[in-house]
Amino acid sequence: MTPKTKIGIVGCGNISGTYLKVAKTFDILEVVACADVIPELAQAKAAEYGVPKACSPDELLADPEIEIVVNLTPPAAHAGIALQALQAGKSVYNEKPLAIEREDAQRMLQLAEQKGLRVGCAPDTFMGAGLQTCRKLIDEGAIGRPIAATAFMLSRGPEPWHPNPEFFYQRGGGPMFDMGPYYLTALVTLLGPVKRVSGATQMTFPQRVIGSGPKKGNPIPVEIPTHIVGLLEFAAGALGTIITSFDVWAHQLPRIELYGTDGTLSVPDPNTFGGPVKLWRPEKREWQEVPLLPLPAENSRSLGVADMAYAMRSGRPHRANGALAYHVLDLMHTIHDAAREGRHIDVSSTCERPAPLSIESLTN
Ligand SMILES: NC(=O)c1ccc[n+]([C@@H]2O[C@H](COP(=O)([O-])OP(=O)(O)OC[C@H]3O[C@@H](n4cnc5c(N)ncnc54)[C@H](O)[C@@H]3O)[C@@H](O)[C@H]2O)c1
Repeated sequence: MTPKTKIGIVGCGNISGTYLKVAKTFDILEVVACADVIPELAQAKAAEYGVPKACSPDELLADPEIEIVVNLTPPAAHAGIALQALQAGKSVYNEKPLAIEREDAQRMLQLAEQKGLRVGCAPDTFMGAGLQTCRKLIDEGAIGRPIAATAFMLSRGPEPWHPNPEFFYQRGGGPMFDMGPYYLTALVTLLGPVKRVSGATQMTFPQRVIGSGPKKGNPIPVEIPTHIVGLLEFAAGALGTIITSFDVWAHQLPRIELYGTDGTLSVPDPNTFGGPVKLWRPEKREWQEVPLLPLPAENSRSLGVADMAYAMRSGRPHRANGALAYHVLDLMHTIHDAAREGRHIDVSSTCERPAPLSIESLTN
């Protein structure tokens, strides 16, 4: 039997329940502690999910048992917690985005390299049945040579339902930094890295109003663009268009489509692990739903942590890795930079496409 990798969760808010539930389904993972700046939240999650220890973040980071710190704090705390974890000799897996600032993310990757530790980062949805089926189809040439991609994430913003939506309208928030990681990670894992971008952005409404919870009716000043249009030139040659928006009431656009010399692939919502995957080929002249590979199709957040734990045992690279997450963070910033400066910008980072996933390849 593979020895368990002991993990500690920092940040016991909204998304932590999913990680705590799903981590139990992986033989290699054992959650031994959870922590939050609000002690009652850590205690409540520990009691609910049978975690042996609820403690402060500092105590968790000092626990010699823990090999991987899973960092589920809000984006502004990602870099601080990750750097502390690495300093303490632990590998770290951050929720998205890797950090808010590129410099902090670079510091993280350098420190991990120096210390022989790993940095992992959400999203891991690209390892699910839906996007892995797309990956297989692309690699097998089902649409020929990819020539273009479109990706659309348009909504009217999270403030109607989210009780604490202020951070969505501050630096590091906005539709690109919040939702862009799903779309860009999907595109980069399917088509490879991006070499040049341009963009245009707009801040449509200077103020938002909280729509639920105790702060209902409170205004939020908007400090960042809320409609972002990006053009992506992939190193392998395809051209991509991405729009992320918190300004749109309704639309009928697809989530992601890939266009090739020999067909079109309709890619499922990259914020999920499942399908549907649909392929259009000229000889059939109709959309055909493609059966999904036998991989997780339900909400499996922590799949990337399990893959990293197995990779640390065998020495292979892990899939939801720091270089991929850094490239995605860099793309999001560079689209905003290009919009501000009114020009195309060469992207200074790059990354490898992670290896495709099969159930057999996950557990070794
Ligand atoms: N909520 C979702 O549906 C969702 C989905 C996918 C990803 N995410 C990502 O997960 C992360 C967390 O999101 P969330 O919705 O769970 O947020 P949240 O605000 O509900 O929870 C974050 C928790 O972290 C704690 N915290 C803040 N600073 C801390 C620090 N320095 N040390 C320890 N604990 C600290 C807070 O007290 C809070 O309990 C974000 O990066 C977000 O982008 C959220």
